[in-house]
Amino acid sequence: MFTTVKPKSYPIPNPLPHDLFKAINELKRDLKAVILAHYYQDPDIQDIADFIGDSLALSQQAAKTEKEVIVFAGVHFMAETAKILNPDKLVLLPDLGAGCSLADSCPPQEFAKFKAQHPDAIVVSYINCSAEIKGMSDIICTSSNAVKIVNQLPQERPIIFAPDRNLGRYVAQETGRELILWQGSCIVHETFSEKKIVQLKIEHPLAEVIAHPECEETVLRHASYIGSTTALLKYAQQSDRQTFIVATEPGIIHQMEKGAPQKRFIAAPAMNDCNCNECPYMRLNTLEKLYLAMKSRQPEIMMDESLRQAALKPIQRMLEMSV
Ligand code: 13P
Ligand code: SF4
Repeated sequence: MFTTVKPKSYPIPNPLPHDLFKAINELKRDLKAVILAHYYQDPDIQDIADFIGDSLALSQQAAKTEKEVIVFAGVHFMAETAKILNPDKLVLLPDLGAGCSLADSCPPQEFAKFKAQHPDAIVVSYINCSAEIKGMSDIICTSSNAVKIVNQLPQERPIIFAPDRNLGRYVAQETGRELILWQGSCIVHETFSEKKIVQLKIEHPLAEVIAHPECEETVLRHASYIGSTTALLKYAQQSDRQTFIVATEPGIIHQMEKGAPQKRFIAAPAMNDCNCNECPYMRLNTLEKLYLAMKSRQPEIMMDESLRQAALKPIQRMLEMSV
């Protein structure tokens, strides 16, 4: 599933520094490193990052950084994308277990068989997939550019969209194109309860539901705005409403509250009485692990060069088609 990781052993400092923020900033300077963080990271990690963004903005940032080391506070496919774009840089992921259920829902061998059933199709894959799937794709997209990219594809060609069926269904609706969907999904975005969202709307009649397109149709139909994490953040700041029910991973609420402290953001609840609306992979990264990764220069993302070359082409196409 994951590409190779170089095992190395470094002495782990014990005890950890008292002031982790200071220690991480010192390491950042010494290593000439940049810390990139997704909005779903813990608030502490967001606060120490040099750049916080959605998947598209993070890959654009990774493509242009001049720093020698990229510390990726996100999940594996994101750090892997940074490595594909920067083969000569050290790319660190604080916890290698930070995978993604959506990426895992599309195993390369099964996908190759699926693709072979539609030999004329253009393959558009959501960035939440492995390097192997990227290597089998014509173009990568993210939730913020999927509609724009599909709209640029020739009308006469069939399109395979993988791996997220919910984003795929949303893109099909927005573009009017018939898409051949791989049936993958995200365990976080499929957990939101329509019933609880409706109850919240009754309790807060002036609140707006805003949702990520990875959510199920039963949730999206209650949303007055659907968009990527960056788009949701911008919308919440610009809207004249004061209360929002946010149907995506609640890590984003940290930036929403920073951008509009007078507004109220309510995390959409999961079906069960659990905190399953938090991404268990994203939340594996902690400030301590970030420090240890920088101190020990591991775990490092490594990749076979032929796989990297194959995965690079559709990412570059995406970056060209997103400007
Ligand atoms: P975006 O970063 O494109 O909003 O996607 C969210 C997500 O699920 C990342 O894993
Ligand atoms: Fe993957 Fe879903 Fe977590 Fe995003 S929120 S990293 S799609 S499991």
